[in-house]
Amino acid sequence: MKKFLLCTALFGIMLLLNSCIKDQPNTSVKSLELPTVAYEYSKVLDDLTIDLPFDNSPANNQVTDHGATLGRVLFYDNNLSINNQISCGTCHKQSLSFADEFDKSLGFEEAVTTRNSPAVLNMRFSNKFFWDMSSSSLEEQVILPIQNHIEMGMEDMDYLATKLSNVDYYPELFENAFGSPEVNPDKISKALAQFVRSINSFDSTFDREKANDFEGFDPLQQQGMTVFLESGCNNCHTVTRASELDGEVFFEEDDTGYGGTGLEGSNIGLQLVYDDQGMGNGMFKVPSLRNLAFTAPYMHDGRFNSLQEVIEHYNSGVVAHEELDFRLKDVDTGEPKRLNLDPIEKVALEAFLMTLTDESVLTDTKFSDPFRY
Ligand code: HEC
Ligand code: HEC
Repeated sequence: MKKFLLCTALFGIMLLLNSCIKDQPNTSVKSLELPTVAYEYSKVLDDLTIDLPFDNSPANNQVTDHGATLGRVLFYDNNLSINNQISCGTCHKQSLSFADEFDKSLGFEEAVTTRNSPAVLNMRFSNKFFWDMSSSSLEEQVILPIQNHIEMGMEDMDYLATKLSNVDYYPELFENAFGSPEVNPDKISKALAQFVRSINSFDSTFDREKANDFEGFDPLQQQGMTVFLESGCNNCHTVTRASELDGEVFFEEDDTGYGGTGLEGSNIGLQLVYDDQGMGNGMFKVPSLRNLAFTAPYMHDGRFNSLQEVIEHYNSGVVAHEELDFRLKDVDTGEPKRLNLDPIEKVALEAFLMTLTDESVLTDTKFSDPFRY
C-alpha cells in the first residue's frame, strides 16, 4: 500500500514537472552529432550537367553549407514543437522519402491533420506548396507547420526564437549560418527553407536511362513508359529534365518534374462531392511521381493504399465531377476517360513508375537526423 502511495505521489510529481517543463527546451535526452566540416549542400547542383527548369531560391537566401546544416538541425529538433515531441522529421521521414506512412499525418498529442504528408523532395523546383497550392514561397511555407495547431502548435514565433536561443547548440549554428548568434524567426525560416531546398533527387533509374535513350529499360519498363505516354499521364505529371529532351512530347518546357510540378492543380474525379475542396472545386496540386515506392498511401487524403488502386482509378474509376480536368475526359463524348488497360499494361505502368525510384535520398547522411538518443 505504501508502495502504491509512493508511486502515485511520484507519478503526480512527474506529471506536475512535465507540465511545467512543457514549454522549456528539452536537451537532456539527446546529443547532436554534426560533421566537423559541413556537408556540401550548396554544391549539389554544381555537379549536375543539366539545365534546371526552375529554381525557387530567392536571391537573399541561396543555399549555403552552414545555412542548410542549421536547417537540418531545426528540421529534426523536437524543440520546434510546443510539447517537445514533434519535429518536421516526424511527418517527413527520410526512410519514406520524406513522407509518412499515414493516410493523414498525426500531429502533436496524436491529433490527425487534415491531409496526407507529401514527400518533401525537389521542392526547389516547385512554385506552389501544399496540396491546395496555398503557399508560394518555401520561406513562408516552412513556418506554417510550426505554428499549425494540429502539427506543432508553436503559435508565437518570437517565443520559439527565445526558446531556441536557450538551447546550447544553437547560437554557434546561427552564427555559422548567418554571421551572428542571435535567433530570430526570419533566420529560422531561411535555414529551414535552405535545408528543404537541398533535398534533391536526381539519381533514379529513369534519370540514368534517359541519358542513354532508355536502352537499359527492360521490355516491361519500356512498355510501361509507352502506356504512361499514351494514357496522357505526362500531360499533368512531367517527370523529367527539360533540356535534354528536345522533340519529345512529354518533355515540354514547363518541366519541373523534380519537385512535383506545382505549376497547376487539377480535379482528377476522385469523387462527385469533395469534403476537402483543395484549391477549390476539388482541385489539388499535381504531385511528383518520384519515389512512389516509399510514399504510400496516395492522394491528398491518402485514400489509396497501393499503386494498383491508383492505376485502377485512372483506368476505370474517374467520376464525372463537373470540374473534372479536360485531360481526363474522352475527347469525343466528354465523359470521364476509360483507359481499358489489360492486366499486363497495368503491371507495365507500375514498373515504369518504379523506375522513378531514387534510394540515394533515403540513405544520404546529410539529410539524416543528426540527433542521437
Ligand atoms: C504533423 C505532421 C507534419 C509536421 C510536423 C510537418 N509537416 Fe510538412 N506537411 C504535412 C502535411 C499533412 C502536409 C500537406 C498539408 C497540406 O497540403 O495541406 C505538409 C506539407 C509540407 C510541404 C509542402 C509539400 C508540397 O508538396 O507542397 C513542405 C515543404 C513541408 N510540409 C515541410 C515541413 C517542414 C519544414 C516542417 C517542420 C517545420 C514540417 N513540414 C512539419 C505534415 C507535417
Ligand atoms: C489531369 C491531370 C492528371 C493526369 C492526366 C494524371 N494525373 Fe495523376 N494526379 C493528378 C493530381 C492533381 C493528383 C493529386 C490528386 C489528389 O490528391 O486529389 C494526382 C495524383 C497521382 C498519384 C498519387 C501521388 C501521391 O503522391 O499521392 C499517382 C501515383 C498518379 N497521380 C499517377 C498518375 C498516372 C499513372 C496517370 C496516367 C494514367 C496520371 N496520374 C494522370 C493529376 C493528373
